Amino acid sequence: MKLAPSLLAADFGRLLEQAQAVADLSDYLHWDVMDGHFVPNLTFGPVVVNALRDRVSVPFDIHLMITDPQQYAPQFRVRSGDLISFHVEAVSDPIAVIETIHKTGARAGIALRPKTSLRAVEQFLDQLDFLLIMSVEPGFAGQSFIAETLEKIRHAKELIQRKNLRVEIEVDGGVNAQNIREIARAGADILVAASAVFGQKDPRAALAQLRALATSS
Ligand code: DX5
Ligand code: ZN
Repeated sequence: MKLAPSLLAADFGRLLEQAQAVADLSDYLHWDVMDGHFVPNLTFGPVVVNALRDRVSVPFDIHLMITDPQQYAPQFRVRSGDLISFHVEAVSDPIAVIETIHKTGARAGIALRPKTSLRAVEQFLDQLDFLLIMSVEPGFAGQSFIAETLEKIRHAKELIQRKNLRVEIEVDGGVNAQNIREIARAGADILVAASAVFGQKDPRAALAQLRALATSS
């Protein structure tokens, strides 16, 4: 089980400090890039993410909630092993965007809104390194996990196993200490959490607790 704390619930005035505070306990740092078009919120883009890249050693997981990932994905200065995902709902040619991401050296993922069916990505699965299943509507931290997502995770896992692929499943939205074990059991490989880490008084302790819960049987 891999954990990816999302900086969306961090104090943006202390981004570097907050990122460094959880780095050694994290498998990835999750960056929610929003453009105010694909989602009704604006966060940060390549300028901010790149500025932090060399100061934090943990791999970056860049979640593009933007209308034009084809244009902006190459502007992120990634390291090999970093992840970049984009939304299938945003683009007309997902294969072209996957190729663009792979050219940067990052691993490529497609993200699905809660209401988007797995059928929308089935034909691209063999090109992907991971599938990001959203368990809240993209745009904001602090929403409740949509329970139907558990079934979607199980289906995605079956589909990936049936096709004999090595696509990882990332689950993003509303993950917390109460539900993390169930989500992990449904088949998630990477779990994102913003409020359940940076929204807590002690983000390190909260993250350590999430890991203990996710890996307990
Ligand atoms: C939502 C983002 C999520 C968000 C999760 O648009 O993609 O990554 O940060 O926040 P929590 O964990 O608070 O639901
Ligand atoms: Zn995200």
